[in-house]
Amino acid sequence: MGWLAELVEERGAEALDLHAQTVNPQFVKLLRTIGFDRRWARAQGQYLWDSDGNRYLDLLGGFGMFNVGRNNPRVREALVEALELERPGSTQLGVDVLPALLAEELLRRAPASVGKALFTSSGAESVEAALKLGRAATGRSRVLSAEHGFHGLTLGALSANATPEFTNRFGPLLPGFEQVPFDDLDALEGQLAGEDVALFIVEPVQGKGVNLPADGYLEGAQALCRRYGTLFCVDEVQTGFGRTGRLLALEHWGLEPDLITVSKALSGGYVPVGALLMSEVVYDGVFDSLPNAVSHGSTFAPNDLAMVAGLATLRELDEQRLVAESARLGEYLLERTRPLVESSEVVRDVRGLGLMWAIEFEEPPGGSRTWKLLERIQPGLFSQLVVVPLFRDHRILSQVAGHGMNVLKALPPLVVTGDDLDGFVSALEETIDRAEKMPRALVRFALTAARAGRTPKRRLARA
Ligand SMILES: Cc1ncc(COP(=O)(O)O)c(C=O)c1O
Repeated sequence: MGWLAELVEERGAEALDLHAQTVNPQFVKLLRTIGFDRRWARAQGQYLWDSDGNRYLDLLGGFGMFNVGRNNPRVREALVEALELERPGSTQLGVDVLPALLAEELLRRAPASVGKALFTSSGAESVEAALKLGRAATGRSRVLSAEHGFHGLTLGALSANATPEFTNRFGPLLPGFEQVPFDDLDALEGQLAGEDVALFIVEPVQGKGVNLPADGYLEGAQALCRRYGTLFCVDEVQTGFGRTGRLLALEHWGLEPDLITVSKALSGGYVPVGALLMSEVVYDGVFDSLPNAVSHGSTFAPNDLAMVAGLATLRELDEQRLVAESARLGEYLLERTRPLVESSEVVRDVRGLGLMWAIEFEEPPGGSRTWKLLERIQPGLFSQLVVVPLFRDHRILSQVAGHGMNVLKALPPLVVTGDDLDGFVSALEETIDRAEKMPRALVRFALTAARAGRTPKRRLARA
C-alpha cells in the first residue's frame, strides 16, 4: 500500500471533523443537520458507496461534471499514460501539441461560427474570458444576461448573475451589467437597440430551475444580437457534452454563437478544464498584434492533464454513444414522470431535455397551512421534504434546483441505466406521496434544518 492509500485509510474516518476544523465548519454543520453527513468510501459510474458499504445513486453528478461516469476507467488510463509520458507541457514560452489537439476536437464538434479556443480551468473562468474578450472585440462595455441565469461566482460572472442570493455582501458588482427576462425578445431588443452592448450571455437551458426556452427565443436572440452588433454568447458550462441529448445544447436550435463557454463535464470529472470557443472575428479583435498575443490566459490553462482529460472524455462520449443515451434516457425519464403532474396534487410540472431533468412542486389546490408555514420559513422548503428522504430512505443523491424554488433537479452521469431511473421513479413517487401529506415529524425536521442551515443552504442550491 502506498503512502496515500495508507493516509486515507488511517485518517478517512476524520473527514467531517477535520473538514470542520480546517475548511468549512458551516458546511459540515449543514450536512449534519440534513443528514447528508456520510463518510464516502468509493465511487464508480453513477454510484457512490458509503463506509458501511451502502450504494447510492448519484443524480447530482458533481453538479454535472460526471457525464462519463465517476472514475471512468478509460479517462483514468489516459491520465496515467499522460503522467508516464512526462510531456514537456506548460513551457509557457512555447507550445505543445495537446492543447491544439483538444482545440481541434472541440472546434470540430462546435458550430462553424467559432474558430478558436482559449482554455481555462473552470466554468466561471470561461465566462470571465467571454466578458473580457467580448468587451475588447466590440469596444463596448455593456453586458446583458438573462434573469435567473447562473454563470459562476467570480466577480464578473457574479455581475452577470446578479441574483441577490449570490450577490448580497459581495458588491459593488462590475458596472455595465444588466439583466433582461428570459424568453422576452422585446425586452432584449429594447436593451440592444442602443448598439452599446458588447455581449448577451445566456444558458440554452437555465440551470437554476431547469428552465427551457420558448420556441424561437434563442434563435430570435441570436438574430437580434446580429442586428445590433452584439456578440451572442451561449453558456454551455452545464448543458455541454451530452447533458441535454446533444453534444452541445445549442444544436437543438441550430445556433451559431460568437462565443461558447464550456467546462464541467469536459473534465471527465477528474481535472479542472474549461474553454471559451470564439469566432475568428472575436479572436482577431483581441489578439491583434504581437504585444497582444497573450492578452488573456492563466498559468495552469492549458495544462497537460486537463487537455488529456478533455481528449479522453470526448472519445468516451463518442465511443460509448453517451449523447444518444442521454437523449433516449431523458425521454424515458420524462415519460415515466410526467404522469405525476396529474396524479399528485403537489406536482406542478415535470420538465427536462436529455438528462437535465426537474420536477416542480406547488401548494395543493385548496391551500395548505403547513405548506404556507414552510414557505414562510424558507421559500422552496417543500422540495427539501423530498430531497432529504430520497437520500436518507432511498439512497438517491439529488438537489434543489436553486434558491427559493420548489424544484428538485437531476443531472445524473450519462451512464445511468433504465433500471436506475425506474428505481428513482418509484422512490420519487413514494417520497412525494409521503411529503404531500406533510407528516408532522418530516415538517419539524425541515423547519429545524431550515433554521440551522440558513446561511450555508446556498451551497445546496449551487449548480
Ligand atoms: C451555466 C453555468 N455557467 C458557469 C458556471 C460556473 O462554473 P464553475 O462552477 O466551474 O465556475 C456554472 C456552474 O454551475 C454553470 O452552470
